[in-house]
Amino acid sequence: MKKEFKETLKSKGRTEMPAVLLAAAECAPLSKTGGLADVAGALPKALAALGIDARVITPYHRVVKEKYAGQVEHMFYFYVQIGWRREYVGIEKLVLDGVTIYLVDNEHYFGDKIYLGGEAEGEQYCFFTRAVLDAIPNLDFSPEIVHCNDWHTAMIPMLARTQYPGGMQEQLKFLLTIHNIAFQGIYSYGFVKDRLGIDDKYFTYEYLNLNDNPNFLKAGIIFSDKVNTVSPSYAWEIMTPDYSEGLEEVLAYRAEDLSGIINGIDKQVFNPAADPLLPATFSRGRLKGKAVCKAALQERMGLEQRPDVPLFAMVTRMTGQKGFDLVAAVLDSLMSNEDMQFMLLGTGDPRFENFMRAAEYRYKGRLCAYIGYSEELSHLVYAGSDFFLMPSRFEPCGLSQMIAMRYGSVPIVRETGGLKDTVAPYNQYTGEGDGFSFANYDAWELRDAVRKALDCYGQKEVMAGLISHAMQKDFGFELSAQEYARLYLCML
Ligand code: ADP
Ligand code: GLC
Repeated sequence: MKKEFKETLKSKGRTEMPAVLLAAAECAPLSKTGGLADVAGALPKALAALGIDARVITPYHRVVKEKYAGQVEHMFYFYVQIGWRREYVGIEKLVLDGVTIYLVDNEHYFGDKIYLGGEAEGEQYCFFTRAVLDAIPNLDFSPEIVHCNDWHTAMIPMLARTQYPGGMQEQLKFLLTIHNIAFQGIYSYGFVKDRLGIDDKYFTYEYLNLNDNPNFLKAGIIFSDKVNTVSPSYAWEIMTPDYSEGLEEVLAYRAEDLSGIINGIDKQVFNPAADPLLPATFSRGRLKGKAVCKAALQERMGLEQRPDVPLFAMVTRMTGQKGFDLVAAVLDSLMSNEDMQFMLLGTGDPRFENFMRAAEYRYKGRLCAYIGYSEELSHLVYAGSDFFLMPSRFEPCGLSQMIAMRYGSVPIVRETGGLKDTVAPYNQYTGEGDGFSFANYDAWELRDAVRKALDCYGQKEVMAGLISHAMQKDFGFELSAQEYARLYLCML
């Protein structure tokens, strides 16, 4: 164990690292729609290396059942009250890569999509919250800290502290990690009171309410012992009205307990040197395999087979967050004036999906819009592309740019949140840097950044330097895990 941790433990009169239960709506590789899943999958493994017994509790979603039903062990079941209904809760256990994952089973809530949308989604995660709290005393492990993630699990601290007098839940410590402040879990008073049985005295601005409605994320910020977000820059940004989505005053109130910890990626899952999902592997200084991947991607996606043409890619949820309006504003100008290819893998807002489908029609053979979700294809896109576009309006951390860099796809990003913290812009005078960036949320700044990238693509040595710097960066979870360990320790 690290000397620093030993000393902290000693000062608290103990020798053991705390046991942590991580509650999350999705967890890779079981269930995934975005980066939250990657973090819930990778962080416990990195914590284990520091001597922390970190386990995960997550819904037994349909996609998980379909793939892992044969490997789970049924532990116990009980019933919870949600509104007027008594609902079944099964607790199943799965050990994956040395990490214990508790799966909350209920066909009604988790037999369909990971996020049901609307009030159905609110009820889905009210149910999960209750199930987690009631399951904790009966697990084969006693957590001291519950690590909650985003609004789906943000009500856990408040309920533990207000509805379990004398129970072990009340004694637990809580960390809330905000992965995305744009989603807060806002429902009507009647809905929340009914589903979670909250006492009227908590529907006030001091506790649950914000702008006349109960707000789950706000309650999490108020009732957790510590709050963090997923990059230092985003931690600053969300203290300002431009990025806080209305929560700046609540965050100011908790400023002393708020920090930013940059995410990492799972270097085993995202490893170009040994990735079973690629037609050829490669590493820094041994890039032949990357050219094979580019050719394979072009062939599979119906792009012209040209090794010399710069291939730009995006792998993303297609929402306002990810800067699609900027892409839409400059795409035609770029595609008509520059010799380049464009590959999008994404799904989301139909407006953006349709725009990209139409663009594919206009630039057949040079632009491919694969509308859908595919983990397998995403690896080939990262590996086969030359540049990775991420012009986000806001970005709490962003894992895609880190994955892209690990696969030698040079990122072009807007300087916001975690993108600012992970991409060092290319400096033409010193040759330093591992990507391109622009400051303002402005389509012409994006176009200029792409043009700069195109210019560098034409200069072999510059491009080789950029790829080498990008691939060299260490985005492993080890450092983040140490930061989380420090945070856990100071909560004891
Ligand atoms: P966010 O969590 O905001 O979506 P991140 O960059 O943190 O953004 O994480 C996105 C994760 O989801 C990455 O692992 C990325 O590869 C993956 N991903 C996003 N969209 C798709 C898609 N359409 N198909 C496959 N993987 C995707
Ligand atoms: C959110 C954010 C993303 C972050 C991910 C994991 O989905 O949008 O920036 O990387 O969570 O923390």
